Amino acid sequence: MTTLNRRHWLRTTTLATTGLALGAQKAIAESPSILNKATPNFVEWELQTPKKVDLYALKARLLANENPHGPSDKARLSIMDSVSMGNRYGHGKAAELIDLIAEKEGVPKEYIMLGPGSSDLLEKTAVSLYMKGGNIVSADPAYMSLIKTAMSMKADWKAVPLTSEWAHDLPAMESAIDANTKLVYICNPNNPTGTITPSKDLYSFCESVSEKKLIFMDEAYLEFMEDGPDKLSMVDLISKGKNIIVSRTFSKVHGMAGLRIGYIVALPETLALISKNYRGNMGMNITSLNGAMASIKDTDFIKKSAKLNKESRDYVMAELKSMGYSYLPSQTSFILFPIEMNGKEFLSQMFDLGIGVRSFEVFGQGYCRVSMGTMSEMKLFIDGIKNVLA
Ligand SMILES: Cc1ncc(COP(=O)(O)O)c(C=O)c1O
Repeated sequence: MTTLNRRHWLRTTTLATTGLALGAQKAIAESPSILNKATPNFVEWELQTPKKVDLYALKARLLANENPHGPSDKARLSIMDSVSMGNRYGHGKAAELIDLIAEKEGVPKEYIMLGPGSSDLLEKTAVSLYMKGGNIVSADPAYMSLIKTAMSMKADWKAVPLTSEWAHDLPAMESAIDANTKLVYICNPNNPTGTITPSKDLYSFCESVSEKKLIFMDEAYLEFMEDGPDKLSMVDLISKGKNIIVSRTFSKVHGMAGLRIGYIVALPETLALISKNYRGNMGMNITSLNGAMASIKDTDFIKKSAKLNKESRDYVMAELKSMGYSYLPSQTSFILFPIEMNGKEFLSQMFDLGIGVRSFEVFGQGYCRVSMGTMSEMKLFIDGIKNVLA
């Protein structure tokens, strides 16, 4: 099964395919205290173990949607070369990177803002917009960084469940917009589901809704999408004058998560909402800026990185399928699939094997989220699943 319809899945599956576990379902319901309640429909199980786990010493580190293939060799060399420039501020280098990004995105340089990771820009957007309250409309489940910060200011969150096909419910999101809405947040492909919203629908939604409200498009995983018409950035609409912010990151396909570089593209007047509160480029470091410049030019590496990710993704999907598991149709660097086991126990057993993954409850069903690592890490993961979920 390559696609998974949520309602169909919830109705019919897996007791048979995974040999479950009614007891485990019950245990989930009985242990709410160890769930990190992120949203009404999405909660995360936390690993609770008496011994401290060294998360960098895992045999397979598949828990943070990192990229095991990066940084590119050229980025590494550039970073090493620029260590001796660590006594200098990075403003000049930030300006050079902005020029490269503007060229890649096809927009003027005034449309680009850099941040130490796109999280930084998600959060700065939230702080800048929600100091005086208002509401934010997004899907549920969604990537929570911007939403959590908005709520820690004064925002109300209007959460609109994903459709039964795991896409954004765009008509329902439009209906949820009211006079107090300051931002519509869309993550495509979405985290934690890995699923996409068809680009045709998204494009016309963004085109019309941005006439009345600011839209934030988080495109962190865009490069991992299957080639085709759905692999479409909404930056094009910004070039046409639409009030949209698009965020991108060097953490995923570039494999530079620990080096912390991200950026947003938006109209200069929209960026001014943020830059009136925050001084641009002070959070950037010169080594990462040089690494990002080398990486953005290294198009062979980007292609290789996306290809290796797809190989791991295809392998895991094929193995899950052959074992009788369902999974969500991921277009990202992670896969979410339902498990019929208590999430805490599942995490504990996987970590004991040296395999780090995440476990969530989505719409009341337990899931494992596994990030794509090297092929040998994925083989360890599949062996682990066979052991733990057997
Ligand atoms: C959807 C999404 N957006 C943004 C981020 C933040 O990435 P970073 O701050 O490393 O750019 C992540 C990280 O996992 C993500 O999944």
